[in-house]
Amino acid sequence: MKNFYITTAIDYANGAPHLGHAYEKVLTDVIARFRRLMGDQVHFLTGIDEHGQKVQQSARQRGIEPIELCDEAAVAFKGLCEKLLISNDDFIRTTEERHTSVVRALLQKLYDDGQIYEAEYTGYYSTRAEQFLQEKDKVNGEWPEIYGEVTEIAEKNYFFKLSEYQDWLIGYLKENENFIVPRYRLKQIQEFLKEPINDLCISRPRERLEWGIELPFDKDYVTYVWFDALVNYISAVGFGTADFEKNWPADFHVIGKDILVPSHGVYWPIMLKACGIPLPKALLVHGWWLKSGQKMSKSTGEVIDPLDLIDQFGVDSFRYFVTREMNVGQDSEFSTELFLSRYNNDLGNDLGNLLNRTLNMTARYVDGTVPSIELEEDTEKELQKSWGETRDEVLRLFEGFQFHQGLEKTFQFIRSINRYAEQRAPWKLAKSEDAKEQSLLKTTLGTMAESLRLASLLLAPVMPEIANKIPRLLGGQESSVSWKESLEWSNTLVGGRVAGKTILFPRPETSG
Ligand code: MSP
Repeated sequence: MKNFYITTAIDYANGAPHLGHAYEKVLTDVIARFRRLMGDQVHFLTGIDEHGQKVQQSARQRGIEPIELCDEAAVAFKGLCEKLLISNDDFIRTTEERHTSVVRALLQKLYDDGQIYEAEYTGYYSTRAEQFLQEKDKVNGEWPEIYGEVTEIAEKNYFFKLSEYQDWLIGYLKENENFIVPRYRLKQIQEFLKEPINDLCISRPRERLEWGIELPFDKDYVTYVWFDALVNYISAVGFGTADFEKNWPADFHVIGKDILVPSHGVYWPIMLKACGIPLPKALLVHGWWLKSGQKMSKSTGEVIDPLDLIDQFGVDSFRYFVTREMNVGQDSEFSTELFLSRYNNDLGNDLGNLLNRTLNMTARYVDGTVPSIELEEDTEKELQKSWGETRDEVLRLFEGFQFHQGLEKTFQFIRSINRYAEQRAPWKLAKSEDAKEQSLLKTTLGTMAESLRLASLLLAPVMPEIANKIPRLLGGQESSVSWKESLEWSNTLVGGRVAGKTILFPRPETSG
């Protein structure tokens, strides 16, 4: 059976990981974990993008080799994955031989097929910025100071015949509207394709850029940016080997909206088509984390280091926050206040207190053993019914990447367990000698434990640690049933010994 193959973008090696990178990995991980729990065989790829001008420049400034800088980045980004509990199956680095050899093979094939040609490129060039400029880069008819001296130069380069495929791509997108999720982002590509597209310059002369993959047909040139980076999605899963079809075509490339047009939405489908390789099934395009309306990144200096929040509040809290707050596809404003509010209210009050009430009262009133349900009344039946509805709806929302709504529904259910406890008031029942009230006490505590077990399991794709921990604190044993089966109301905890007081989400020392 083919794997469910999902990828993140590969992050630039030049620069430290930030919230944007962390979010994309968590989102992709939530999907990967959800698919696994639903019974799919998953292959999950992430990695880093190591070649290019910026890495070369930064390394030069620090007096080290580019590969040393990339080695550092690999440690940092792999560390981020571990810290975030990312369940990736593979981590690709574009300097690896398994990648460079595929890039070179594809370039050679396209060159042999006449899809890559050589041409003279004339344009304005800034030596200081080491980049080509266009008329539109002028301000009031002058080149801005940052470019230093700008000269007109003619340079030989290699071009890929992108324009020949424009009509094909327009047709493909018309027939495959599910290629872009959410669908409203498709318009951006269609807008771009309204104007004639240019062929793609895929090379840089070695004398200007050394840190790249050498063209197989001209050793004085390296390939530039997208012909290198995009290919990671196929090189990592053994393009050219028998294993390739176990994963390819990818089910989803998860990317941010800034790299949809033109790279993933235009270049990549055309590159694959030109090489005779099937297209990925879909691109899942997420929005940005913003700070005061601006995209967050390391270079804006506005960055909240995601690792700091994780250290302080735990990885599950961080994963919960980013998944709960972001409506996949749209942007979301980041603030520490919002984080603290979710942490204190949803996690601390609703979930954490419910666990503690359940543990404490079970210890106090029934000797720490989850009691059996002796007397089911309408109140219990309603809660059970509400669970069934919650679970079905949440699974449906998760299937459609509506994780923020799925979490909202899950927490509504958690709040309804708290209301159920208020209504039954076990602390009052415990004072009574009456046999019926004693039965109701057991029923209430058993029902609280079961409903909390179920709710925490539903959180598993988003909060893997908590989902594992809560059932165990409630005395649950390892079980061999599938995740979906474990989401049935089954009172499996009955007879188990609960743990002592446990604070899952301690109050922050100072809220800032
Ligand atoms: N190296 C390229 C991608 C090549 S994929 C074949 C790149 N790297 S990046 O480091 O700039 O961005 C990596 C991913 O992080 C992108 O999908 C990007 O959209 C995402 N994010 C970077 N900043 C972001 C936010 N502020 N918010 C959410 N995600 C954003 O582009």
